[in-house]
Amino acid sequence: MDKVSIGLLGFGTVGTGVVRLLTKERERLEERTGCAIQLEKVLVRNKNRPRKVLIDSRKLTTDVYEILDNPGIDIVIELIGGVDRAYRYILRALKNKKNVITANKDLMAEYGEELLLEAKKNRCDLYYEASVAGGIPILRALTDSLAADRIQKMIGIVNGTTNYILSKMSHEGLSYEKSLVSAQRLGFAEADPTSDVEGLDAARKMVILSHLAYSIPVKMEDVKIKGITDVTREDIVYAQKLGYTIKLVGIAEVSNGDIDVRVEPTLLPNGHPLASVENENNAIYVYGSLLGETMFYGPGAGEGPTAISVVSDLLSVIRNMALGVTGHHIFMPKKEMHPKKDSLIESQ
Ligand code: NDP
Ligand code: HSE
Repeated sequence: MDKVSIGLLGFGTVGTGVVRLLTKERERLEERTGCAIQLEKVLVRNKNRPRKVLIDSRKLTTDVYEILDNPGIDIVIELIGGVDRAYRYILRALKNKKNVITANKDLMAEYGEELLLEAKKNRCDLYYEASVAGGIPILRALTDSLAADRIQKMIGIVNGTTNYILSKMSHEGLSYEKSLVSAQRLGFAEADPTSDVEGLDAARKMVILSHLAYSIPVKMEDVKIKGITDVTREDIVYAQKLGYTIKLVGIAEVSNGDIDVRVEPTLLPNGHPLASVENENNAIYVYGSLLGETMFYGPGAGEGPTAISVVSDLLSVIRNMALGVTGHHIFMPKKEMHPKKDSLIESQ
């Protein structure tokens, strides 16, 4: 295999990071994969909008079918966000036998299972490492490195925007509104930041993590969700006086024979390692029956870290193509939605 051709959907924060990385590190990445990596087309809404990174304007297109139906494109990277359109585009790409990479947790939390089945049917890859915790390789950890253990509990900070807001409110005395604007300017927040501040983004990530850790397709309606919109500066100061830090924490645990998933602002003692996770960083504790406790920590949002996850997925896909293997199927449920209590207890 001498060359792979890529079609990129979306040229926002993460799309820009991907183009920047592919341009800057081209030689090293090509040496690593042993083949030329050609960015063929980039889907945008407006071709004339100034871009943060230099690109040959002939690569820009507003016609998605120039990518999805283009027999010369091997891999589609979806970075437009949202659910319905992204779902249609990815489905079409898979049906056209293209490998797909996405950072879209909204989509994967809702349709991940179905899309992975479609990928399997078409003997294609569907990778989505960047959908949870930006630059932290937590999906690979759960599906590969920790796969032999029985996961009891995961607890983590999985939304960079809210962690950034709470950090700024607590350490710099910034208002909630100013902190949110700053998170948006830095590219951490979703296009509609309501999903960040109301806890939905974190909940979607916990759904994906739970599915991978417990092999059970947890749904968004099963998650108890409370965001940070009611957290005031006074709450934060009062908590600090008592030796606590307020963080938006996601928890998924085996409880009374079922899986309990929730996202809520939580008072953590200042000495707790999660209390010192600042700004857009994320951290996830995983408790395994045999391994005990492991913690994953790193940048959870933003152009560079997310682009690293996306391009690392790209390298995995290229490796699979070179080896002639396809199908990264890590979202397949093995148990029922609400398993009989006995079966879960047995697995403890
Ligand atoms: P942005 O809003 O910055 O970028 C989205 C891009 O997609 C924009 O360039 C937008 O065009 C383009 N776009 C949207 N709809 C269409 C369409 N119909 N046709 C053509 N182009 C379209 O989002 P991000 O880059 O921040 O996020 C992308 C994905 O990555 C999302 O799923 C997000 O949840 C996920 N993600 C983001 C992280 C982050 O830190 N930002 C981290 C991890 C995951 P236009 O420029 O014209 O608006
Ligand atoms: N809006 C998300 C966050 C982006 O702030 O964590 C990374 O998934």
